Amino acid sequence: MLALAAKRTCVVHDVFKSFLIVKIPGWRGDCVPMSISDFQAYTGLNGLKRALIPLVAACASIGFVALSWAGTWWLIGLVFSLPVVVLGLYDMRQRRWTIIRNYPVAGRLRWLFYDLRPYLRAYIVEGDEEGKPYSYEARRLVYARSERSSDTHPFGTELDVDSADYNWLTHSIAPGEQPDRKPRVEIGSPQCSRPYSASVFNISAMSFGALSAAAVEALNKGASIGDFYHDTGEGGISRYHLKHGGDLVWEIGSGYFGCRDEEGHFDPDLFREQAQQDQVKMVEIKLSQGAKPGHGGLLPAAKVTREIAETRKVPVGEDCLSPRGHSAFATPVEMLEFAAAMRDLSDGKPVGIKLCVGHIHEVMAVMKAMLKTGILLDFIVVDGAEGGTGAAPLELSNHVGMPLKEGLIVVRNALVGAGLRDKVRLAASGKIYSAAGVAECLAIGADWCNAARAFLFSIGCIQAQRCHTGTCPTGITTQDPRRQYGLVVDVQGQRAANFHAKTLDALADVVAAAGLTHPGELQPHHVYHRVSANQSLPIDRIWQFLPDNALLEVPEETPYAHWWRAADADSFQPAIQLDRVRNTAPRNQPE
Ligand SMILES: Cc1cc2nc3c(=O)[nH]c(=O)nc-3n(C[C@H](O)[C@H](O)[C@H](O)COP(=O)(O)O)c2cc1C
Ligand code: SF4
Repeated sequence: MLALAAKRTCVVHDVFKSFLIVKIPGWRGDCVPMSISDFQAYTGLNGLKRALIPLVAACASIGFVALSWAGTWWLIGLVFSLPVVVLGLYDMRQRRWTIIRNYPVAGRLRWLFYDLRPYLRAYIVEGDEEGKPYSYEARRLVYARSERSSDTHPFGTELDVDSADYNWLTHSIAPGEQPDRKPRVEIGSPQCSRPYSASVFNISAMSFGALSAAAVEALNKGASIGDFYHDTGEGGISRYHLKHGGDLVWEIGSGYFGCRDEEGHFDPDLFREQAQQDQVKMVEIKLSQGAKPGHGGLLPAAKVTREIAETRKVPVGEDCLSPRGHSAFATPVEMLEFAAAMRDLSDGKPVGIKLCVGHIHEVMAVMKAMLKTGILLDFIVVDGAEGGTGAAPLELSNHVGMPLKEGLIVVRNALVGAGLRDKVRLAASGKIYSAAGVAECLAIGADWCNAARAFLFSIGCIQAQRCHTGTCPTGITTQDPRRQYGLVVDVQGQRAANFHAKTLDALADVVAAAGLTHPGELQPHHVYHRVSANQSLPIDRIWQFLPDNALLEVPEETPYAHWWRAADADSFQPAIQLDRVRNTAPRNQPE
């Protein structure tokens, strides 16, 4: 009963979880019989202070029993005091938690405050610019735009314009009069017979499984209302993706979910069947994502419901694994052949890749493979290390993968330098939530941007960061239908569409201020970065932006010379030794 009632609300659930429920399973193994000598730990003034709570509860219990002649009210007191005594005795006997053994019952307050910490911080302590990963200000902006309430800001910026991480977009004395309010970009190389006209702002990949059915529906409904695309994520196309008719980009990861045979390999027939649906506009081969590059994924058996299993084409109730790498190809050329096969099977739809940039020679190898085979990717999505995920190892999230700006410049330079930029489209994702973020990426060289978590905010996410626990308080990242109850698809779908529309309005304002008409006209020199207290530079003076064909004509004059030489169209391994300095000690040998 207690556990059931506690699950009703998130905070209450946490309180009970930290105080009573979760820590008690396994108590038999943790507890040992307590001898009288053990009580010596709680003698003396210091010991009594530490055991104060169970001691007071014990005294109160004795008092209540002693007052039993005065009526029945003492029973009520006993109901409250006796469990504290029992808990205190348990805490004294258990051996697993030091603090609790030394501070019976009181030590549990520490757990309580740990669990309440996110709420206390978010609602009381956090400054407007402080929240992580998204500041309160960023969340407030998305909420305001999705509710169509005022998103204007009074009294001037609160940012420190002198700080080293400040950047800004330049504007013109002659602003543009009629900026494009619904800018689109045409995607599809000459090898693609069914190009797609995309919005410059879309929903990034998030799979059914990571997201609830209600969230998938709401996002797709938003995409349908606002005429932008919704990336399925690698978990396959579910019926919730199809219900509202919003444009889909079908993402295929290393698990080939939705198009795999029994061994987990790519199945061309299953792929053709789904890819030829009209709602699927493009296909994206996922190589990596910024939040966990080089990591596969595991949907635990408990989460593999019948519906998820059907969508992914995996067995119900068994662990569902995405391997680290693809089994359909092993070299850049093979990857392009795979992409070309997918383009044929989908009846000529654009096929691209999504990656977080890691080894630079591998990006160059993909360019060389396109030049060698003549097979083109239709698009490349660059995901930054700052990007989100449902769950990832902390080391991968915090310390592996290239941040968006640097990654985008590498891929932009690779395409431009290899003379492929006019044929292959480029997209960016990684913590983009406002028109300023979209504009900066487009200025660097992207054709469009995607956002994942910002769209989750638009449908009600409160950044509780419990996505991996199955207890998302807003019903977005849980498979618990009771928690999904709060998420009303029609309402939240409209909010996703509002957020998209208002962000594009703001983008049009930025574009007009720069004296331009389409955000695609933004250039690197439109973005300034402060590099020190007394110097700021346009980004094309901070990073090198290669001119057309530089890697073909004068590779040795570019900063990429080394990686270009190392790039091999037939292998992701470097063709030359890349190390400038080599560690020679045999660190992987047994002693
Ligand atoms: C809940 C959640 C699930 C995600 N699932 C996928 C996925 O299936 N495939 C993928 O390529 N990226 C996935 N991502 C990453 C996003 O698509 C994107 O690459 C990254 O989050 C950048 O977007 P953001 O910073 O705007 O959130 C997921 C992100 C979130 C927050
Ligand atoms: S509300 Fe919390 S748990 Fe739910 S999606 Fe948002 S961050 Fe994840």
